[in-house]
Amino acid sequence: MELKNDLLIRAAKGEETERTPVWLMRQAGRILPEYRAVREKLSGFIELAQTPELAAEVTLQPVDILEVDAAIIFSDILVIPEAMGLPYEMVEKRGPHFPKTIKTASDLDQLRVADPEESLHYVTDAIKIVKKALNGRVPLIGFAGAPWTIFAYMIEGGGSKTFSKAKAMLYADPELSSKLLQMITDSTIKYLKAQIAAGADIIQVFDSWAGILSPAQYEAFSLPYLKQIADGIDNVPKTIFAKDAHYALPSLSKLNYDTIGLDWTMDPVKSREIVGKGKTLQGNLDPCALYAEDKTITQLTETMLDSFGKKRYIANLGHGVYPDISPDKVKHFINVVKEYSSRQ
Ligand code: CP3
Repeated sequence: MELKNDLLIRAAKGEETERTPVWLMRQAGRILPEYRAVREKLSGFIELAQTPELAAEVTLQPVDILEVDAAIIFSDILVIPEAMGLPYEMVEKRGPHFPKTIKTASDLDQLRVADPEESLHYVTDAIKIVKKALNGRVPLIGFAGAPWTIFAYMIEGGGSKTFSKAKAMLYADPELSSKLLQMITDSTIKYLKAQIAAGADIIQVFDSWAGILSPAQYEAFSLPYLKQIADGIDNVPKTIFAKDAHYALPSLSKLNYDTIGLDWTMDPVKSREIVGKGKTLQGNLDPCALYAEDKTITQLTETMLDSFGKKRYIANLGHGVYPDISPDKVKHFINVVKEYSSRQ
């Protein structure tokens, strides 16, 4: 199926675009009343994510309502631990919780490399429905968590400010850590390949907890696995978003990803200097900027567009949109990107 709007794909590949493509991390779910209406009828997030028709419906909502230049499949990065044998719960207003965590080598023996055909078909089924419904309108983004970020949840058992248990495991038992990271990596490559086979046009890897590691730990416990993922997937463009990992930009630039996502603490011009001209940059407006008045959003967005320039750039926020941000503010941000970059 040929894409009618392929701005995102062209920007990722470094081709010319008439204007800057724009989408938002965490655009599916959270902010739209239309999402909440679907969600309310169900027992919770997991039931929604595991019902392909409904997951497809909420994936399409931001394309219809916000008119973003891409859809991102409605799911979560934590489907991988579950498919490996470590189920999660989503606790209302608190976030993910793992009843069991990985503490010892014998816990590791209970896990398996995920088989997407057996345990993640609800995601690939949803992708197929979305692709059909989109009919080439915009590209569909597939995604997964980075091995380190997934490891962090599997050891910690849920969200944390410090992820101190997960970091402690890297120091205390590097061998167990590497084994688990390798199992997650093997699962993730299979999973991303399954998403691509089902129709994902581009993929993004979220390393949300990259910023809490020391540079040496990142070199040892995140980068080698991110490299395997990048090298293991070669038929669609790939994005890596490593939040708060300033120190890792030079190393990430050497990996086989087409696009590097930036959070709002990273300066566009300095980041471009570090990354060089060979990659696309994505980001990086502070999500909190969307609480401001429209004219402030306009000004901040235009400044961002000027700093990144039009070539090899995808507009986005510097992290996921917050749940209580008004959809009107999000729409305003999207409109400013579209209008200003068309004139740039
Ligand atoms: O981007 C999208 O719109 C697609 C869907 C998507 C979700 N999670 C749905 C979701 C994506 C891309 C994710 C990624 C994700 N999940 C990340 C990486 C990106 C980031 O934010 O750093 C992480 C770390 C998670 C883990 C996770 N899932 C947490 C910490 C939480 C609770 C807090 C929160 O962010 O809402 C979730 C729950 C979750 N994932 C919800 C949704 C729509 C809310 C659950 C609900 O509706 O009850």
